[in-house]
Amino acid sequence: MNIIIQNATLITSTQILTSNIRIEGEKIVEIGLHIPFSNTDTIIDATGKYVIPGGIDPHVHLHLSTGAGYSSDDFYSGSVAALYGGTTSIIDFVTPHKGQSLVEALEDRKKEAENALSDYSFHVSPIDWHENIEREISICKELGITSFKVYLAYLQSIGLDSEVFANVLKSVAKIGGMVTIHCEMGKEIDDLRDRYFTENKTTPLYHPLSRPAKLEADAVQMAIEMAAEADCPIYIVHVSSSESLLHIQKAQTNGQKVYGETCPQYLLLDDSKYQGTFTQTAPFVMSPPLRKKSDQGALWQAIQKGNIQTIGTDHCPFMMAQKELGIDDFRKIANGAGGIEHRLELLFTYGVLENKITLSQWVNLCSTHAAKTFGMYPRKGNIEIGSDADVVIWNPEIERIISVQTQHQNCDSNIFEGFQIKGLAETVIRRGEILIEKGILNKSLSKGHFLVRK
Ligand code: URP
Ligand code: ZN
Repeated sequence: MNIIIQNATLITSTQILTSNIRIEGEKIVEIGLHIPFSNTDTIIDATGKYVIPGGIDPHVHLHLSTGAGYSSDDFYSGSVAALYGGTTSIIDFVTPHKGQSLVEALEDRKKEAENALSDYSFHVSPIDWHENIEREISICKELGITSFKVYLAYLQSIGLDSEVFANVLKSVAKIGGMVTIHCEMGKEIDDLRDRYFTENKTTPLYHPLSRPAKLEADAVQMAIEMAAEADCPIYIVHVSSSESLLHIQKAQTNGQKVYGETCPQYLLLDDSKYQGTFTQTAPFVMSPPLRKKSDQGALWQAIQKGNIQTIGTDHCPFMMAQKELGIDDFRKIANGAGGIEHRLELLFTYGVLENKITLSQWVNLCSTHAAKTFGMYPRKGNIEIGSDADVVIWNPEIERIISVQTQHQNCDSNIFEGFQIKGLAETVIRRGEILIEKGILNKSLSKGHFLVRK
C-alpha cells in the first residue's frame, strides 16, 4: 500500500518542517512539498497534527516469568498498548535459566515474542559466568544483539557479583557492544530488606526504605569505575535519583561513554505514594522505588542538559492478586508497574507543554536516541528517505485522563491513574501498515519483526 501524508508538521530530533511524506511498502520514499499522488494511494491529511517517528521503548518486560507468575502483559497485549501510545518498536529482555546458553535463551524468547504487533528486539542478560559465555555473547552479536543487560541487584536470582560483572564488561567491550545496567547494591539491599522483615516491618512502605537512593548511587559509581577499567560503553537503566546523576554527569564530563535512561514514573511520581493501605501502595512497588520530589527536578534538569538521553518505561505490570502475594511480606510483592502506553503522552504533556523540553527533544528522548544507542538508526528513530515507515500522527489537541478503565495495558491498576493528558497518537503506522487509525486498532494486522541490530 502507498500512503501519502499531507501537510505534515514533521518533527525529527533535529528539525521541524512542513512537508508531505510518501510511503511505499515498508519504507519512506519521498519527503517534500509537492508529492504527486494517484487515486490508488491512501491519503492522510495531517493538517494541525505533528508527524513524528514511531516511538522506541528500550526497556520493557512483557511476559516476564517471576516468582509471582508472568508480568500481566504478554507480547500481544503489551505491544497493542505500546502502539496505542505511539510506540512502534520495543526492546525487551532475554534472561536465561541457570545453565542455559544465551543463544538458546534468545531463540526461546524470540518464539515468545512472535505475537507482538510492534517490532521488537532484546537485551540479553548473562546471569553467571562459564567458559562459553564469551563465545555466546559473540554469537548473539551475529544474531543482531548489540546490548547486554546486567543486574547488580537481585543477587539471589539473576544478579551478578563484581567478578562476573567485570568479565561481562570485558567480553562485551571486545565485540563493540553496550552493557546496560540495573544499578542497586544487591547485598546491602538484601540485608536491609531482611532486617526490616525480622523487625516486623512488612508493609510496602519498607520497599523504598530498604532501597535508598544512596545504594543506587553507589552501584552507579561502581559500574562507571568498572566500565572505565574495561573500556566498555554502558547505559544505566531507570536512573531515579539526583545522587546517581552526579556520578553520571562526572563520567560524561570526563569523556567516558556512559548513557542514562529514566522513566516517566521517576519524573512524575514521588515516594508519598507509599503512604496508605496495601491496595493503595502496592502498585507503586518497583525497583528502584519512587524517590523525592527534588529528584524529579534533578532528572528534568539532566534531560535538559543531555546527561539523560533516553526515556524507557520499565513496563512490568502485575495484577493486584500478584501484588497481594506480599501482603504480609513486602519482599514478596510482585515488583514492577506498567507504563508502555503512556510514555509519549506523559512526556508531551508534562515535558513539551510545560516547556521543560522542546518537540525535537521529545522525539529524541522517545525514539531517535534509543535507535542510535541500540544499533537501529537510521532504519528506526527518524523520518527520512530509506527509513522504515514507522510514523505517528500526533493530535496535540485531544485531552484525556489516564484511567485503568480505558487503558489498553492488561492490568487492574495504573500508576498514572487520574493524570490529565493532552495529545494522542491518533494514527500509528508501523513499516507502512496503518495499525491505529483515528485512535482505533485495525484488525487483521501483520506481526512485528525481530529487529537485527548493528
Ligand atoms: O520493578 C521493576 N523494575 N521490575 C522489573 C524488573 C527490573 O528490575 O527491571
Ligand atoms: Zn526493568
